[in-house]
Amino acid sequence: MSLETVLARIDTDMPEAVERLRALLRIPSISTDPAYAGHCDKAADWLVSELNSLGIKTEKRATPGHPMVVGHVDGPGPHLLFYGHYDVQPVDPIELWHNDPFDPQLEETPKGTVIRGRGSSDDKGQLMTFIEACRAWIAEEGSLPCRITFFLEGEEESGSPSLVPFMQENADELKSDLAMICDTGLFESRTPAIVTMLRGLLGEEITITGPDLDLHSGMYGGVAMNPVRVLSKIIAALHDDTGRITVPGFYDGVPELSDELEAQWQGLAFDHAAFLGDVGLSEPAGEQDRTPLEMIWSRPTCEVNGIWGGYTGDGFKTVLPSQAHAKISFRLVGTQDPLAIRENFRAMVRDMLPPDCKVSFGGHGASGASQTETSDPAFEAARQALTDEWQVPAAYVGCGGSIPIAGHFQEILGTTPMLIGFGKDDDALHSPNEKYDLESFHKGTRSWARILAALT
Ligand code: BES
Ligand code: ZN
Repeated sequence: MSLETVLARIDTDMPEAVERLRALLRIPSISTDPAYAGHCDKAADWLVSELNSLGIKTEKRATPGHPMVVGHVDGPGPHLLFYGHYDVQPVDPIELWHNDPFDPQLEETPKGTVIRGRGSSDDKGQLMTFIEACRAWIAEEGSLPCRITFFLEGEEESGSPSLVPFMQENADELKSDLAMICDTGLFESRTPAIVTMLRGLLGEEITITGPDLDLHSGMYGGVAMNPVRVLSKIIAALHDDTGRITVPGFYDGVPELSDELEAQWQGLAFDHAAFLGDVGLSEPAGEQDRTPLEMIWSRPTCEVNGIWGGYTGDGFKTVLPSQAHAKISFRLVGTQDPLAIRENFRAMVRDMLPPDCKVSFGGHGASGASQTETSDPAFEAARQALTDEWQVPAAYVGCGGSIPIAGHFQEILGTTPMLIGFGKDDDALHSPNEKYDLESFHKGTRSWARILAALT
């Protein structure tokens, strides 16, 4: 086995690998919009044929939603499960894109060459790093150093409704020694990282109704209850002046950082001024007695993701709206219980309702936080492989985002997840003009080739 020749093959194959990634990026597999279901199916077909062409026995597997792609290939080393998602976020606001989000182009930027398009970083570019690493191994050695099960999902960006039942029904097939997830980033865009803490996520949609219909605000204003005012007051009450969240019982299950993690994170010397400066901000806005890294990785949040009601079009309309709406999400840590928080949040809102107002709630997924044990020697092996590739010591880090499947691997399969990804902070995930650096794609692929070698 010669890792060097595999790495060299990755280097010479880069132009073709980029073309393959572009082909996948051209398929608009937006999972949340039913109008794109056919494209999700096409993306799954594309991956099935790609993996089969490498000699990996792969099938598209139906679910009540978008299909899963499951493939198996043998190898002498440990049995790894690889997870990535082929679905992408919607593109709106489309007018802010400089190019067609599904016609990916290479672009020179002051920080290097990037490939721009929806899903380039989240998660098609990332999942292709692993597939390209396998391709190079197979091309050079005729086989892979590890036994691998591929498990690619098409519903991650819409809350993974089919995932848990599918994993339960196919647990024996998916169980493995270690689950590799490629859906996270580098630390501060330059330090390779293994994520050991992910936050959970609870989504709540709330509608407050006052009058039966929209009213003239001259005729009724002053005497009629305005649901936008009521909603604003409720939202304003969700945090106190120090940034703490006021939902009763919210902090049950929120642990203090261990001394060990605190020391480790301090060693990372996170530059929060640069992190905020890159997006036009300067002051950390969370709980005032916490460090910025804690605010992102180990403290829970409550954020308003959308709020609307009344007239929001051009011009002006003197309306007193019948309804007001908001989408609110909570990022959770430790053992915070999403369902208990949902109940307490709803009770708090009901308690604040004045006479003549009604409220209705919609729930959007509820997953707890997850944390990974790194005592398995595979973690140190992978960390060393990452360090070798990037020439910067790889770090164990937290992640403010949520990847509920990491918890499901532990709970349903008893398989430990190892989260490694190569995204950068400025990739514009879920935003217009999403991009993936060619450096991430190239060195990401080389990183996986090294990790596969290191785990055998
Ligand atoms: N790849 C992201 C998770 C992520 C976010 C990793 C930021 C690194 C940095 C993932 O696809 C995602 O966006 N997850 C959603 C949750 C999901 C249940 C809709 C999220 O975190 O909002
Ligand atoms: Zn993702």
